[in-house]
Order: sequence, then structure tokens, then C-alpha cells
Amino acid sequence: MEVKIFKDYQTLSEKVCNEIIGLVKHKQDATLCLAAGDTPRLAYSLLAEKAISEKVSFSACTFIGLDEWVGIPPANEGSCHYFLRANLFDPLGIQSSQVHLFDALSSDLSEECRKMDAVIIGKGGIDLMVVGVGMNGHIGFNEPGSPFNSFSHVISLDETTQRVGQKYFTQSTTLQKGITLGLQHLLDSRYAIMIASGIKKAAIIREALEAPIAPEVPACIMRKHGRGLVMLDQGAASLLERYRGYRGYKGYRGIRV
Ligand code: F6R
Repeated sequence: MEVKIFKDYQTLSEKVCNEIIGLVKHKQDATLCLAAGDTPRLAYSLLAEKAISEKVSFSACTFIGLDEWVGIPPANEGSCHYFLRANLFDPLGIQSSQVHLFDALSSDLSEECRKMDAVIIGKGGIDLMVVGVGMNGHIGFNEPGSPFNSFSHVISLDETTQRVGQKYFTQSTTLQKGITLGLQHLLDSRYAIMIASGIKKAAIIREALEAPIAPEVPACIMRKHGRGLVMLDQGAASLLERYRGYRGYKGYRGIRV
């Protein structure tokens, strides 16, 4: 795993955007799984512009949904569906035939999980996953305690996720369950990037990168990935013992651990 620390959110977002573009330049028919959430928002907004200026087409790519709030319709602006359409698929001109998202309204969620796992196998695996990290260390909706060897599943959301998740909704919303890819999908992906921004993520990033590897902090799994990259801004990196020397650094450094 490699850790890169950037001076601010803008620079972090530009570099995340470059990683996605670079991957698609290299593999035009890549299978991508890109998280929703506040952290990647700016990187995605830079992506459409950069795709045009660098003449990179996403038209042969496949997009796999990472997760969704169970029971929340795609038209609800707090849903991952809505976020991905508005911030990624529409600006990039992605066709619905290229997209596989969980139907979190399905009466048979186990079947949704089975279908998603089958799509990923059918595509020969995921080329790139870009994930955020929750305030409790979750990845996707793999909450603290989730086994590292899980595939798609439905999960009861932790109290932190239910509370923090309200930020995506215009009105108070009951968020009890999630449907999500598993941590094994992340381990199996050819390239995995975890991103975090801001001081509010500093404590959980320290746990994820410096505490003993344990399912209580799912984001620790990045340390088990053969080709994992953790991209942070200085706020998110500010409590790391190991990278203390890089605080205040104006550019960025790649640190292989
Ligand atoms: C969203 C997702 C979540 C978020 C995480 C961080 O698809 O999978 O795990 O990545 O909760 O969210 P933000 O970026 O809003 O802090």
C-alpha cells in the first residue's frame, strides 16, 4: 500500500481525477467502482472536463455501484444512485447499459447481491475501486466488524452511519440498512484507491493506517491490498505518527509502507 498526502482538497481531487483518467487511458473498457459521498465530489466534477481535454472516452467502461441505502428510491437526492447520476454518469454521458447499481427497493435483496457478484465475475473483476472512508472506518457499507472476506450483502447500519448519513438528505430520513459490495471485492480489485479529506477524518485515518489490522476498522483492509493507494489531504493525514514530518509540506510525497 502506498500513501500520498496532498496539500489540500483541491489538489487531492485533481490527483484522484488523474488516477481515474490514467486508468481509462490504459484500459478503455475498464470496470470501475466509484463511491458516492462528499469526498469524491470535486474529483468527479473535474473528470468530465478532463475527459474532454485529454480525449478520453468512458463509453466502453462499465460502472459498478458500491452501495445503496435500503428502501431509498433512486429519485431521492440522498441516494447513491442520485449522486452518481448527477455527479458522474450524466456529466460523462454514461449510458444506463454501462451501469450496474443495486436496486435497494427490490423485494429480494439477496438476489440483488447475487446478481451484482455475478456481474463482477462476468466482467472479469473490478479494475479500479475508488472508496471513501466513513467516520467509523466503514468502506462502502462494510460497517465495523464486517468480515474481510465478504462479497455483496445487506447489513444493518451502525449508529454513526445512520446519523452521519443524514447530511445527504434534505429531511430527516430513516436509514437502517444498506446493501453493499463486500471487502473481498476491494481486496480482489486490481487497483484500489481510498480517499479522505479534512481534519474530521484524521482520527479514523490514523486507526486505519497505524492501529493493528482488525475488522473493527474496515478501512484497515487497504493495508492488505497488493496495489492499494491511500490519498489524503493534510487535514486527514494530520494525526498520522508516521507521516508527521510531512505536515505543512507544500507539495505531496508518495510514501510506500
Ligand atoms: C458512499 C460510501 C461511503 C462513503 C463514506 C464517506 O458510496 O460508500 O462509504 O464513502 O461514508 O463519505 P463522505 O465522502 O461523504 O465523507
